Amino acid sequence: MNVLVIGNGGREHALAWKLAQSPRADKVFVAPGNAGTELEPNLYNINIAVNDLDSLVEFAKSNAIELTVVGPEAPLVQGVVDCFQENGLRCFGPSQACAQLEGSKAFSKDFFARYHIPTADYRVFSEIDTASNYIRQQALPVVVKASGLAAGKGVVIAETHQQAIDAAAGMLSGKAFGEAGQKIVVEEFLQGEEASFFVIADGDTAIPLATSQDHKTRDEGDVGPNTGGMGAYSPAPVISPQIHARILAEVIEPTLAGMREQGTPYTGFLYAGLMIAEDGTLKLLEYNCRMGDPETQPIMMRLQSDLLEILDAAVDQRLHQQAELSWDQRTALGVVMVAGGYPGSYDQGDEITGLPEPSEDGCKVFHAGTQIQGGNIVTAGGRVLCATALGDNISQSRDRAYRQVETIQWNNAYCRRDIGHRAINR
Ligand code: AMP
Ligand code: GLY
Repeated sequence: MNVLVIGNGGREHALAWKLAQSPRADKVFVAPGNAGTELEPNLYNINIAVNDLDSLVEFAKSNAIELTVVGPEAPLVQGVVDCFQENGLRCFGPSQACAQLEGSKAFSKDFFARYHIPTADYRVFSEIDTASNYIRQQALPVVVKASGLAAGKGVVIAETHQQAIDAAAGMLSGKAFGEAGQKIVVEEFLQGEEASFFVIADGDTAIPLATSQDHKTRDEGDVGPNTGGMGAYSPAPVISPQIHARILAEVIEPTLAGMREQGTPYTGFLYAGLMIAEDGTLKLLEYNCRMGDPETQPIMMRLQSDLLEILDAAVDQRLHQQAELSWDQRTALGVVMVAGGYPGSYDQGDEITGLPEPSEDGCKVFHAGTQIQGGNIVTAGGRVLCATALGDNISQSRDRAYRQVETIQWNNAYCRRDIGHRAINR
């Protein structure tokens, strides 16, 4: 069958690369894709933006696309799945109503409370006066979040009450994030270790993917500004078999049941961002309605089952018939290379040299912000590449991933040198 993947990041490169390995895949198109998907022998880029829903539907109709897989949150929140379905097209992802779990933190926090899903204590505000009064009574640090989509930048962990009030005022005035800040969530700061937990859901059944952890901050030692993710690995040692079972029972299952009860059963990837405290307390920080980036890259390296088969079954609500997924028992680790300055301003259009030949088994450089210009591969975004490798243990996969990084160059390239340190220290 012909498949369409919507997106242009490292996540979409990894998903499309994996989908194309299915014996059932004919052509796999990526809209709009990047230099990495352009250069894959069995992937085809098409120049349509992720938010141009009419053109995407038109393309799917005229190219006999039997399955569309959506990568990023923005088109999901915009309603791409509903739009495809209204046109009789099969599209894997949450409906617009379901995508609110990511698109509105006010919605999702109230949902967690209603269905007793463990999460940080919180209140939702749309007025600065009531928000300020509440903030002054909270212990420090206190967390202030824009309710809407803010590209991962809408969270402030404030060390003082004044800092929290200033952040709240910036959001509520519309100055900081426009409409996304018209409602804010003020919540308790949680201590512990974060992990990412993904499932593939079809409304009723959820199949968990391998566990993973990412490094969200820009600099070594997990400090500096928050980014979309500087590196990730799978599995996540913090998720013991016992915690795994609790995540399914305390978080995932009540969520699917709640969404069904609301009349909007959840189909798609579902990404739980969790905080696991030393004493085993488990809390849900947030949901995303998509796969994580860069977690997808190491996870796809380990997936041995046929991804196309599974997503196809999910669209038809046949997941209960699927066997458990099978995984490479090795560890996978990905190091993200970014343009210097990211997540602030950075240059684009710099030529990238030294990309390794795609030969060595278990090593793969996924592209994110890249494009082809005049026959050269150049940078075209903040997060540029994700050098990923399998290894017998976390140290070996790290060494193999960094070996790929060593040969790659462009003006002002940057990466963290300590990806995986938490897992290695265990
Ligand atoms: P979110 O977009 O809600 O996942 O927040 C982005 C990041 O901010 C998370 O990955 C955490 O590192 C941090 N964060 C968010 N909420 C909290 C919280 N209540 N306590 C501690 N850290 C948090
Ligand atoms: N890895 C963080 C994210 O995808 O949001």
